Amino acid sequence: DIPNLKDVFADDFLLGAALLANEIADVEGPDAQLVKKHFNSLTAGNEMKWDATEPVEGQFTFANADKIVDFAEENGIAVRGHTLIWHSQTPNWVFYDENGNLASKELLFARMKSHIDEVVGRYKGKIYAWDVVNEVIEPGDRKPNGLRNSLWYQIAGEEFIEKAFEYAHAADPDAVLYINDYNTHFTDKRQFIYDLIKRLQDKGIPVQGVGHQTHIGIASPSIQELDDMLAAFRDLGIEQQVTELDMSVYTNDAESYESFPLELQIKQAKRYQAIFEVFKKHADQLTAVIFWGKDDLNTWLRTFPVDRNNWPLLFDERLQAKYAYWALVDPSKVP
Ligand code: G3I
Repeated sequence: DIPNLKDVFADDFLLGAALLANEIADVEGPDAQLVKKHFNSLTAGNEMKWDATEPVEGQFTFANADKIVDFAEENGIAVRGHTLIWHSQTPNWVFYDENGNLASKELLFARMKSHIDEVVGRYKGKIYAWDVVNEVIEPGDRKPNGLRNSLWYQIAGEEFIEKAFEYAHAADPDAVLYINDYNTHFTDKRQFIYDLIKRLQDKGIPVQGVGHQTHIGIASPSIQELDDMLAAFRDLGIEQQVTELDMSVYTNDAESYESFPLELQIKQAKRYQAIFEVFKKHADQLTAVIFWGKDDLNTWLRTFPVDRNNWPLLFDERLQAKYAYWALVDPSKVP
């Protein structure tokens, strides 16, 4: 029997994983057992997104989200909510009026409020943190020019972010409210998010956490960049979480391995070990570290950016502990 990951980091932060409801369809099966043993925080991979919870205006569907929340509750596992406002996986009707024109700001905010009331309200007291807005910074390169030019932004400007936090706070005053994004180790992007949070704070908007997705690679970013990423937000006085951690074994889109080379297994393990040393250093502010998946079979990196094998997590396709796991639990077991 191997040590429970959540116990290894019990003094530091919650240790979690994202999963899809179908992974725990058999609540006593091996996948569910792995989750119960190692993780004390769960995130729904897709089931709480707008297209899943309100595909048609006013018609809410919670069956799959409930499966995850119920499973977590029965097993004493905390739940993170992901995500309320995003440019992706949001039905088109949200942004258009009955004549097919772009919705007015008033209509958009009314829909936003109704959605947030319903979703956050349903899980009030059951979800300890929400990704209120996800990926709102302009993508493209290392120097964002501003907020992402999503339909949210086109209709409402930056105010959509303010309203989202206000509505979420009203729906559950105890949930910790996060702004979540990827590549937060990029200096300019990070600064942009920092400045945005500061503007929101100055207006009294209840933004209470910054989420670092942390989808990283086998070679970059450097450990130092990850340290700097967490250090950069310290003086804002808010919580931080690593919300979607995984480590692709590739350095470009053309590579593809039949099986996981031993040399890379070891490299990945040592890198995870060093990264968790950094996380521990920031544990006074870092309240959770969540993997984006629990095992190497159930990972978005097997279809993105291309279909190929990948081994980004701590447990392999057969749910066996990898060197990456041992690096966190007992590094003497890593060759
Ligand atoms: O369920 C259908 C299935 O019926 C169909 O046969 C299949 C064919 O493509 O698609 C399945 O849906 C897919 C769904 O995941 C469930 O696996 C969608 O195509 C696919 O687009 C969707 O991808 C999700 C992605 O968000 C969408 O943007 C990933 O599972 C999910 O892991 C990923 O998560 C995001 C976070 O929310 C935000 N940060 C980045 C992260 C990774 O992209």
